Amino acid sequence: MSARPTYYLHSYGCQMNKLDSELVESRLVQAGYERAPSEAVADVVLLNTCSVRQHAEDRVWSRLGVLRVRKRREPHLVVGVLGCMAEEHKHYLQARMPHVDLVVGPSAFGDIDAKVEAARARNAALRPQFDKHGRARLLPSAGLVAVGAGVSGDTIRRDVRVRPARAQAYVSIMRGCNMPCTYCIVPSTRGPEVSRPIAQIVDEVQRLCDDGVTEVCLLGQTVNAYGRDLQPKASLPELLYRLHEIPALRRLAFITSHPNFVTPALIDALAELPKLARYLHLPAQSGSTRVLKAMQRGYTRERYLERIAALRERVPSLDLHSDFIVGYPGETEAEFEETVSLMQEVRFAQSYVFKYSPRPGTVAAELPDDVPEAEKARRNQVLLALQAEHGLAYNRALVGSVQEVLVEGLGEGPDSRLHGRTVHHRIVHFAADDDTLVGRYVPVRIVQGNAHSLVGELLPDDAYQGEERHAAAAGRR
Ligand code: SAH
Ligand code: SF4
Ligand code: F3S
Repeated sequence: MSARPTYYLHSYGCQMNKLDSELVESRLVQAGYERAPSEAVADVVLLNTCSVRQHAEDRVWSRLGVLRVRKRREPHLVVGVLGCMAEEHKHYLQARMPHVDLVVGPSAFGDIDAKVEAARARNAALRPQFDKHGRARLLPSAGLVAVGAGVSGDTIRRDVRVRPARAQAYVSIMRGCNMPCTYCIVPSTRGPEVSRPIAQIVDEVQRLCDDGVTEVCLLGQTVNAYGRDLQPKASLPELLYRLHEIPALRRLAFITSHPNFVTPALIDALAELPKLARYLHLPAQSGSTRVLKAMQRGYTRERYLERIAALRERVPSLDLHSDFIVGYPGETEAEFEETVSLMQEVRFAQSYVFKYSPRPGTVAAELPDDVPEAEKARRNQVLLALQAEHGLAYNRALVGSVQEVLVEGLGEGPDSRLHGRTVHHRIVHFAADDDTLVGRYVPVRIVQGNAHSLVGELLPDDAYQGEERHAAAAGRR
């Protein structure tokens, strides 16, 4: 048995949630903890949670049910609820979940190691009482609660060595969100927009690149609104030009963009900077101006389509990705059909489609959730099927081309398939039993296009062509 205390961490949320998990892990490793091979043997179990839809929360509640049973057998176990649900449900967790030792919101991860240590010390000092079935009585209240404004993980100088992928890294450039979208819980769990200074981000990316990272994805809920709260003001395009100068950086992406902040300067950057990934995640949410207005998205269908047209005109090679919500309160069949037609008009390379889920405390939660579940499911299926059709057409059009693929990992199948991403962020599977390729850029000829992925054949080095060669060459400068 290891002498070092062990932890197991689950992530349930968005990329920002996953990055927060990395930062939490890096603090714990620095403090002498070791990752456990499975949850069942860990001394500390942490759930980094998401509140964006009911389904995300339900998964956590059920995990907590399982952990409660274990905690009654092993009262020294430390259970922590981190992230957006910690913020959202702090009172309930404190009052009703005595097996939870730690409740830590996303703005309070900075000293997570000290919090975990304190909880461990407290539990180690417990003298639990067991009943005749060997089950411990649980203490009546949850332990350490840290929510609201605190020290967030990304304000701490990051240990760049602790990261899950050799060549790829997420970098948070801003926290929180100031937008008024009526359905969304994120502004209440993550707080207001706070941008990190350019110098701090450049330093972090430089250090990551010095340690072998070549692809960076910048994160923010409205990533293209970056910098408006800084003194002096900064902007995403300004940051992109600065980062582009880092020689070892080969690919640079950013998510998620809001249609209202697609400025001419951002379009210029996309057109001019060859290291920028060739995709833009620009959620439309709906194709109906009436629904967009009800959601307080701040744009009309026409404005959204104008932005798309401007982007496509300057940057024809750009893939566009979207998110949609179906069944927003009061969404009529005709309004839903407008979303269908927007999707047909734009033909996104990729879309996520969600059934509207009322979030307590949001403006929309006050409205009747009046689109029946079966109808939401139908609309969801209609959009998913249409998206699959468009994705298939996109991917089939690549058959025969050679793509530069950044190898991400080994597949699980018996034929040792590797997978990686093109500069458009499309996933490619190809046969090779050489795991030393992970983290490298290799040429792959596309032989098959599916709705959500590509299949290819590994080629010898130096087999690039067209735009991909251009991107590859720029990256090597
Ligand atoms: N900041 C990003 C993404 C936020 S959450 C943006 O503005 O695009 C990711 C996606 O979840 C959203 O784009 C939206 O499509 C979906 N979503 C958010 N709240 C939801 C809710 N209450 N019900 C269903 N989907 C929701
Ligand atoms: Fe939520 Fe809207 Fe902010 Fe995105 S922009 S996180 S949908 S409030
Ligand atoms: Fe979920 Fe919080 Fe991200 S609610 S989507 S983990 S910001």
